[in-house]
Amino acid sequence: MLDTSKLKADSLVRAVRWENRELFLLDQTRLPGEVIEERQETVQQVWESIKALKVRGAPAIGIAGAYGLLVALREKLDLSQGDFMEEVRAQAAYLDSSRPTAVNLGWALRRLVKKAEEADDKSPRALFEVLVAEAEAIHQEDRMLCRGMGVHGAPLIKEGMGVLTHCNAGALATSELGTALAPMYVAQSQGINFRVYADETRPLLQGARLTSWELQQSGIDVTLITDNMAAHIMSQGLVDLVIVGTDRVAANGDVANKIGTMGVAILANYFGIPFYVACPSSTIDFDTAHGKDIPIEERDGDEVCEFGARRTAPPGMKTRNPAFDVTPNALVAGLITEKGIIRAPYVETLAKTFQG
Ligand code: MRU
Repeated sequence: MLDTSKLKADSLVRAVRWENRELFLLDQTRLPGEVIEERQETVQQVWESIKALKVRGAPAIGIAGAYGLLVALREKLDLSQGDFMEEVRAQAAYLDSSRPTAVNLGWALRRLVKKAEEADDKSPRALFEVLVAEAEAIHQEDRMLCRGMGVHGAPLIKEGMGVLTHCNAGALATSELGTALAPMYVAQSQGINFRVYADETRPLLQGARLTSWELQQSGIDVTLITDNMAAHIMSQGLVDLVIVGTDRVAANGDVANKIGTMGVAILANYFGIPFYVACPSSTIDFDTAHGKDIPIEERDGDEVCEFGARRTAPPGMKTRNPAFDVTPNALVAGLITEKGIIRAPYVETLAKTFQG
């Protein structure tokens, strides 16, 4: 049973806020220096906010995308029924084009489109109300998914352990507790003492800017390391467990997550450290059989040529900038889901747990 009154992360700032039918997104590109929310006036602004990682993390962009569709549609309530329905589909496709890898975005938008298609009353105002309720439901459900992963994952964290994480899969990436960080917040609320090593996460520094910030704020013992220190820290016996989040899990349990995650998994395997992935059901893509079929976002090479805002590479440098990699299921000790920890063989266990 979860004692929510002891959850420190509950008081953290929210990545996505929906109030009086206005969408506010915390601009995570300014963290930790500035804590600034931006009201989203247009659907183009929401698209840009997702693309520029002002809002980021798979569940958070799903929630922001769902509310973003409402931002697009609220100006269109005087259209004919047919034109409004067309607009629902077109704006959902537009928002879905902002980032390709996290399945939660397309999943949330498809949920809204389906809801609109199935509604009896197709008048724009009635449809809009149906979509508001669905977006709010997605947001609320995510809170419960995070809590579920927290409760099921917390027993993995024992007194005195060192836990390593990569990127940010915390409150800032979701509605509330996070995915990979949820077990940490729940273990903390149960009085367990442990240390976290946060990988810096080049090139956009989600670990340095976001994970270290939110864990520090909640009072969890966190140590920041650069990505290339993980092997050394593990070799010294300081890491007992790895927990990361994910942007998409294929039906066979292959895991797409922030670039560098596969390297961490290989290291963990070498050093005999269990590597767990926190994965809400909203991040499982049963339509993608294997990890190799997951679309990997390739971002602007300037991100690799800069550190912070400072140029660090020579002009004209050739770069690659894949934002995610895919960890083979064989390296995954278990998927921490809201229904419990799922273990290999993932094709069977995932289908049985979530489709059976
Ligand atoms: O590019 P980002 O910052 O959106 O990448 C985020 C991640 O890779 C997270 O680990 C993942 O979305 C899980 S968030 C709960």
